Order: sequence, then C-alpha cells, then structure tokens
Amino acid sequence: MVTLETSANPVRSNEVYAEIFRRYDAKNSSPSGIAERASVLSALGDLTGKSVLDIGCGTGFYPRVFRRVGANEVVGIDLSEEMIGVGRQLEELEQAGISYHVLDAANLPDLGQFDVVTNMWLVNHMTDPVALAAFIEGFARLTAPGGTALLLTTNRDGDWKLFSDDYRRYGFTMTFNEAETAGNRPYLLELDSGGKAFSFQSTSWSPQVLEEEFTRVGFRTIERMHATLPTGNFPWVDGDHTANDADFFQDLLRSPAFTIFRLTK
Ligand SMILES: C[S@@+](CC[C@H](N)C(=O)[O-])C[C@H]1O[C@@H](n2cnc3c(N)ncnc32)[C@H](O)[C@@H]1O
Repeated sequence: MVTLETSANPVRSNEVYAEIFRRYDAKNSSPSGIAERASVLSALGDLTGKSVLDIGCGTGFYPRVFRRVGANEVVGIDLSEEMIGVGRQLEELEQAGISYHVLDAANLPDLGQFDVVTNMWLVNHMTDPVALAAFIEGFARLTAPGGTALLLTTNRDGDWKLFSDDYRRYGFTMTFNEAETAGNRPYLLELDSGGKAFSFQSTSWSPQVLEEEFTRVGFRTIERMHATLPTGNFPWVDGDHTANDADFFQDLLRSPAFTIFRLTK
C-alpha cells in the first residue's frame, strides 16, 4: 500500500493534492461515492436555474454534476493550481460553462453571492481552528440571503469500528490514529482505487465545533441530512451486488463515512 506524505502543514503542496486526487477520483464510483453523490443532490433539491459555488472543488467533479442537473452558473475554487488546471482542461473539451479559480478557502475574496454554496471533503483537510473559522466566515458571506449552504465532511459520529475494518467492501477504511485536539481528531483514510490501495492523513471535526461556527457566522438553520441512494436505475454493479441490494448498503446508510450539514442563510 502507498502512503502519501501530507504532513501536519495545513497548506499542502499542489503535488500532494494532485497525487491524492488522481487516486481519489475513483472514490466517486465506489459504493460510498454513489451514496455520497445521491445524498448531496437530495440535500440540495432542485438546482435548476441556480447559481452554485463549490469550494475545494478538486478537478471539478461536483461542479460538472451541478451543471448536469440544471444549475445555471457554476463556479469552482480550489487551492491547487494543478487540480484547477485539470478542471479547466475538461472545461475546454466539454464547454460546460463552469469557471474555475485558484483560491484559498481560508482567505476567500469577494466573489459576489450565490444561491447555493457547497464544500465536500474540504474541512477535513483543515487542522487549524483559525483557518476553519476564517473559512466558515467566507462560506457564509458568499451565500446569498435565503440561500442554501452545504458542508460535507467526515462522519465523526459514525461507527468507527466498522469504518476501520468492515468498510473495505464500500471502497475505504478510516482509522483514528491520534487523540482529539481543539475539536479535531486525525485519522488515516485508506482508499481502494481500482484494486490499488493508498492512504493519507485526514482529520474529523466534532459536529459541535462545526455547529458553533455555523451559528457564530449567522446561519439561520442547521440540519444534519440522512444518507441516501439514487432513486431509479443507475449504473452500479460490483460482483454480485447492485444498487438495489438493500442488505449490501444497509451499514453504509446507517453509518455513512460522510455527514452533510444543510444550512440556510
Ligand atoms: C479530498 S479533495 C475533495 C474534492 C471534491 N470536493 C470532491 O469531493 O470530490 C479536497 C480538496 O480540497 C482542496 N483544498 C484543501 N485545502 C484547501 C484550501 N485551504 N482552500 C481551497 N481548497 C483546498 C484540495 O486541493 C482538494 O482538491
């Protein structure tokens, strides 16, 4: 198994993120990734005609999903020039109408306000509470009054005994490997990408810390959303399992790797 050296530095190098992402992209077609995408879309509701900002967008996986389901204006931002570069190259090929910017989520400039602002798997790369607080301030500021904000991160309240072993069948394992400090507890994420295992260090924030931050910056409502699977047919078959295999997905839905906060401004 390959372990990617990501160090405790909150601002990791572009190269490390790019390498993580090359391997990480495969998670979107894993059982957990399928549930994640369905849960994000279900939590956001109808995006038709809406403006959407995705912070920590990587190579633009979610921005492209948001355009496909009808969002009108989509902007993706990420710290990594390399990932944004991949997003822009795909944009040249697909002309989806997405714009990308290289920006630090902990220092967000004035980009106007958006009907919907999302971030998926971003705050689990922030170990500094000051950076987290600065990010949550920008996250709220860029959400239009009456708009929706969505934050997806590690499910700290999940069943970590299952995560650290049994969840190989869903494409990953997560194991706490340090004690909690200032509300965040580090863990090792191991992903199985097309039969090649690799791992990197990540962190999980306590829901209480996140909720205090959401309240501090003035979000009016805070909801924790349930995990779900896509409705209807979708192309996922792995060995003997299909997306309609209730037994196979039972643990994942009861104790997903991710948790989603839906907030209103
Ligand atoms: C695990 S990836 C998630 C990508 C995408 N949201 C997804 O779920 O497929 C985390 C992303 O956050 C970005 N990132 C980490 N720290 C950041 C920061 N301070 N500002 C902006 N992006 C950051 C990384 O470059 C990386 O693309």
